[in-house]
Amino acid sequence: IKPSMPIKLIQEKQVKRLCNTSTIITVNGQFPGPTLEANNGDSLVIKVVNRVKYNISIHWHGLRQMRNGWADGVAYVTQCPIKYGGTYIYRINVENEEGTFWWHAHSPWLRVTVHGALIIYPKENSSYPFIQPQREVPIIFGEWWIKNYIQMAKAALEIGVPPKISDAILINGQPGDLFECSSKEITVIPATTGETLLLRFINAAMNTELFVSIAGHTMNVVAIDASYTKPFNTSYIMLAPGQSTDVLIQTTHYHGRFYIASHVFNSILPFIGLDNSTATAILNYDTITPTKPLLPLLPISSNRSSASAFGSRLRSPRRVIIPEPIDENLFIVVRIGLIERNIAAASMNNVSFMLPKTNSILQAALFHEYGVFTTDFPASPLKKLNKTIKGTRIYKMKYGSVVQMVLQGSNILLTEEHPMHLHGYDFYVLGTGIGEFKKKRDEYKLNMVDPPRRSTVGVPAGGWVVIRFVADNPGVWFLHCHNEMHTEFGLAMAIWVENGVGEMESVISPPDDLPQC
Ligand code: C2O
Repeated sequence: IKPSMPIKLIQEKQVKRLCNTSTIITVNGQFPGPTLEANNGDSLVIKVVNRVKYNISIHWHGLRQMRNGWADGVAYVTQCPIKYGGTYIYRINVENEEGTFWWHAHSPWLRVTVHGALIIYPKENSSYPFIQPQREVPIIFGEWWIKNYIQMAKAALEIGVPPKISDAILINGQPGDLFECSSKEITVIPATTGETLLLRFINAAMNTELFVSIAGHTMNVVAIDASYTKPFNTSYIMLAPGQSTDVLIQTTHYHGRFYIASHVFNSILPFIGLDNSTATAILNYDTITPTKPLLPLLPISSNRSSASAFGSRLRSPRRVIIPEPIDENLFIVVRIGLIERNIAAASMNNVSFMLPKTNSILQAALFHEYGVFTTDFPASPLKKLNKTIKGTRIYKMKYGSVVQMVLQGSNILLTEEHPMHLHGYDFYVLGTGIGEFKKKRDEYKLNMVDPPRRSTVGVPAGGWVVIRFVADNPGVWFLHCHNEMHTEFGLAMAIWVENGVGEMESVISPPDDLPQC
């Protein structure tokens, strides 16, 4: 147990960005929030105190929380939210996990400002499976709205149209000096010649996928979503909301300033008129007289082939044993469509997910409370594809099942990507493609040798992705699009992995201070 874990106080604060001052919700007065650091095998004890008038809970994105959904932090799925004035202590055991994680509010829209990095280093006396970097820098991307985004999101939900695109992408809380009034609002990372730097990129943006490049430097990708990869060199990375990518760079220059730059990837960009201003940070070798920074070349915002080319290069470092045979074969159509009166609704297999109001699903499931959810989430889409039903429907499966999910994008309203995030698990990404997944035609193309492992995967616009994992973590786990607005429109579901036979295969008992609804 690390006694030094900060107490996390959620409170309001005024900050200035893009020529305007706004009141935001922060953690310990910081935005982005504090970076938490621990080692593989540690137990974390993190006290969250809520001093704002919104219900809140904190999710530790990417951590598996073995048998301990009580610490997963999804409001109304694994816990009731922490109310104004309330406190909850998250007790987390980090077991065989290391890499770049992050934490964020898991209550509608609060994660715009309530997020931060969570870095798990290897066990003491063990090291990375790559060259030891001299320095490590977490780089977290966010999104900024000048207007009050909570009101904006509320209105968007009521009228059923997505909210306005954000006014800027932020890098470690700053938009960079290409924006108005922002010459000082830029993150500067000092560099000295001859170092190896480990940059840990995290996309905490609400609704936007990002391209990222660094002028004058090649990136060597070594991990994604806290799983190591077979290293490869690249001039850009693509990062969907919820994803993380670790890269090594060599500082080979002697002087100069180099932009780390990012802008939106969106294949329908011309359509919705995104603001494609570029967010920047500076990698700075010049300590005395700053020179004008060099801009990198980024793939253009609508360049879908660059986005998918990046994903197709990801591999596990070694041959892996793919769990077989399949016990649970789910075919899930994710889509955004219209329900009554032209209100947008997003769904998975025609079910538009609704959070319960009276209790968390995990509590209700384990203590047999009826009326909170039903277990009739369909394993394949309804015959009448256009029908959307609302409900808190979850999918129940046995402990230890081998699960395959084909996530099929089929958007009627718009063709958008969906970064799907599964709580409580990592999974193998066996393959992805455009069009409709056809077993006969596509199954033999799946990577059964060295597929990458991750916890957030993009379902391409009008395409599919196949994931596989063993249901070895009992509890109730959320599966949703990490694009906030899509989740709000219902693009979510939950799986309930039943307890196994032994004590070590069962959910641990809830802590005494678990918030009540
Ligand atoms: Cu990053 Cu459901 O969360």
